[in-house]
Amino acid sequence: MAAEVAELRDGVVLRWRGTLTDDEMVELVTSYGASAAPGWWDQVRPHSFGWVTARDAEGAVVGFVNVVTDGGDHAFLIDTKTRGDYQRRGIGTEVVRMAAEHARGAGCEWLHVDFEPHLRAFYFRACGFEQTDAGLIHLPSLSAEVPPLAFR
Ligand SMILES: CC(C)(COP(=O)(O)OP(=O)(O)OC[C@H]1O[C@@H](n2cnc3c(N)ncnc32)[C@H](O)[C@@H]1OP(=O)(O)O)[C@@H](O)C(=O)NCCC(=O)NCCS
Repeated sequence: MAAEVAELRDGVVLRWRGTLTDDEMVELVTSYGASAAPGWWDQVRPHSFGWVTARDAEGAVVGFVNVVTDGGDHAFLIDTKTRGDYQRRGIGTEVVRMAAEHARGAGCEWLHVDFEPHLRAFYFRACGFEQTDAGLIHLPSLSAEVPPLAFR
């Protein structure tokens, strides 16, 4: 059975579905220089299959990853995040590992992820993903002038 809690070096503790407020999510995202959207985590959380939090010895959130599933064979990993001053200490790799164990424990066969090219070493080498063909559509960019298939 996948672990609910795991302790890493320096007192960093991982938790499956650990408590995490929207304010903490905003702080985590701004910690590495990205712009956070208040309310985003409160909106996303009800749709999540589960997530992993990492907290340091003082209780501050230093890592996160979210997992959604189709309820069958497929799980999707999204929004891996490590606090700016805690990056490159193995936390991202470990939150992904715990997420993968829980997806497997739920009976999923495949874990999907997509990412920008500069993170290839992280996902392929550190986390163990294999390269595959995949596709992506940026939905807001779909032309409204193309009629639906049924009307062509
Ligand atoms: C991507 C991210 C989650 C990685 O977290 P992390 O805790 O620093 O990752 P790890 O320490 O486990 O990294 C393990 C290995 O992955 C590779 N790696 C990690 N981050 C990398 C980066 N930014 N660029 C290139 N390689 C990277 C390295 O090989 C690293 O090993 P090394 O430190 O011995 O060289 C973190 O950089 C982050 O939060 N970035 C901002 C948010 C983001 O872009 N998330 C990805 C969404 S798809």
